Amino acid sequence: MLDNPVLDPKRIPRHVAIIMDGNGRWAKERNLPRIMGHKAGSESVKDVVKTARKLNLEVLTLYAFSTENWKRPAFEVQGLMTLLKTYLKSELQNLLGNSISLRCIGEIENLPSDVRKILTEVIQGTTPKTDEKPSLILNLALSYGSRSEIVRAARAMAEKCVSGQFEPQDFSEKFFASHLYTSGLPDPDLLIRTGGEARLSNFLLWQLSYAELYITETMWPDFRGARFIEAIRDYQSRERRFGQTSEQLQAE
Ligand code: IPE
Ligand code: IPE
Ligand code: MG
Repeated sequence: MLDNPVLDPKRIPRHVAIIMDGNGRWAKERNLPRIMGHKAGSESVKDVVKTARKLNLEVLTLYAFSTENWKRPAFEVQGLMTLLKTYLKSELQNLLGNSISLRCIGEIENLPSDVRKILTEVIQGTTPKTDEKPSLILNLALSYGSRSEIVRAARAMAEKCVSGQFEPQDFSEKFFASHLYTSGLPDPDLLIRTGGEARLSNFLLWQLSYAELYITETMWPDFRGARFIEAIRDYQSRERRFGQTSEQLQAE
């Protein structure tokens, strides 16, 4: 546990999700090509992962590439894929050494085959061999879109009904959630978006139902461990009522 007097160790969120936005603007402000912003952003990823582990978070989900991001210029998409490969190759030892387990959510089949190959290697290599709990699950959203995830889940459930394995009246929230990419993970407690935009951009629409939202003007390449701790401190100042009243919560 990080020796950090500003945080209450009993109220650390289990799962934090981050929309890592603002790389392009960060680069533009410095007259650099956009890809340099993405490169600087990968340093933020390393620092935030390190901090998440020290804080004893269970899951950190990072939105790295959306289904809509395929519409960007081919040069930028290629640059992002190369950076992803470099990140995975260079971080494997670090993930293993710190018992961090990599997972990913999204249309992985749409990623270039060389990225898929290294991604699979890192996922398999970092999955705990026994029932041992990893120190952190690092969950990367790659070619991820929430609507496509929901449609995919609906299709899988419909197929189970057609084949007679399941009856429509037996559908429940739990059943639905178990067909999403995030099956088995707790819902995010906190959503952070850097770069100042107040939108979800097709990210975890189902899973974020009751997450606390934290939007910061800081661009992703400037968002390092200290800013992450600030966001969690803000989260700890919130009262999560889940529909109840403040008085009810205090009585509990
Ligand atoms: C986020 O930064 C990274 C990805 C979407 C891949 P952007 O590239 O969207 O940066 P801005 O929003 O243009 O500044
Ligand atoms: C959201 O950022 C996706 C990622 C951070 C990977 P975008 O920059 O793509 O979002 P919009 O297009 O501004 O909503
Ligand atoms: Mg953006």
